[in-house]
Amino acid sequence: MKVDIQKLIRRNILNLEPYSSARDEFKGENGIFLDANENPFGELNRYPDPYQSKVKQKLSEINQIPTENIFLGNGSDEVIDLAFRIFCEPKKDKVLTFSPTYGMYEVSANINDVELINLDLDKNFQIDFGTLKSYLNDENLKIIFICSPNNPTGNSIKNIKYILENFNGIVFIDEAYIDFSPEESFRNQIKNYPNLIVSQTFSKAWAMASVRVGIAYASKEIIKFYNNVKPPYNISQLNQDTILNTLSNEKINQVSENIKIIQKEKKNLIESLKKINLVKKTFPSDTNFILIEVENADSVYQKLVNKNVIIRNRNSVIKNCLRITIGSPEENEKLIQALQNINN
Ligand SMILES: Cc1ncc(COP(=O)(O)O)c(C=O)c1O
Repeated sequence: MKVDIQKLIRRNILNLEPYSSARDEFKGENGIFLDANENPFGELNRYPDPYQSKVKQKLSEINQIPTENIFLGNGSDEVIDLAFRIFCEPKKDKVLTFSPTYGMYEVSANINDVELINLDLDKNFQIDFGTLKSYLNDENLKIIFICSPNNPTGNSIKNIKYILENFNGIVFIDEAYIDFSPEESFRNQIKNYPNLIVSQTFSKAWAMASVRVGIAYASKEIIKFYNNVKPPYNISQLNQDTILNTLSNEKINQVSENIKIIQKEKKNLIESLKKINLVKKTFPSDTNFILIEVENADSVYQKLVNKNVIIRNRNSVIKNCLRITIGSPEENEKLIQALQNINN
């Protein structure tokens, strides 16, 4: 399917003259820098690299994806928000999501004054393609957000290829939890689909939520527009250095080890949860959290809070369901004890 990216871009963004920072114009590292009204004193006095080239270079080597196909955002939340600003005309264009899912697609749609079409996932938390079909030819439908593995249900979404093959707008696949999943990432598909954006994050498997760095992999054309609309210095130098440090071989091995521990803890936690009567169901999970169904989610949630154990009450989006993040072995043990107490 031939997709014309230029046609999907908002007119004002297509015609935008992006901000050109002092560091855009001079790329060298040596010199007397009197161009950016910085302070000559101190250690953090210089503006950071606006395009985070060292981090992208490293990501490029690790994933075999050219740096021109990589964008870094202030968390993947920024990657999501910028997609609205690049592609969606407020009050005119629409986006589509599959519910229940991550809440920021809807919040970003509301902030940007863009209509959100919310299609319910079926009883197995999969896409109902029969219903979806009738929306795919709407010219004003600019982005379809697919969260896979999905938050808060925990499962991977099947048949995403169908959407890539049959939709002419932007297909945004949010892979925040992909490193916990046996499924393959879609990031290698960006060469086949110029309208595909794959977002990932350092906040989950990489254990760097406080650093606020998210990634978008997409065609060079899309990445160019991301660079045009982003704030000039959206990732601080401290954060670029921290991520670069995490991408060393030694740290990557540590991250893989920690993922294995989390997987093992998840298995144990599911076994323990199944033995507690008030837990009616545990849903399969390709993530670092588990969705469970209980008899009265509000009550169980509140009783856990009273015991200083905080989980996520999802009763408002999936009846009587609670979402539990896999913690350290000690934290998981405390959660199980607290639930056993509530149960008795
Ligand atoms: C599916 C999903 N996408 C994106 C995010 C946001 O991630 P970041 O910390 O990179 O902004 C989250 C955070 O919980 C998430 O669950």
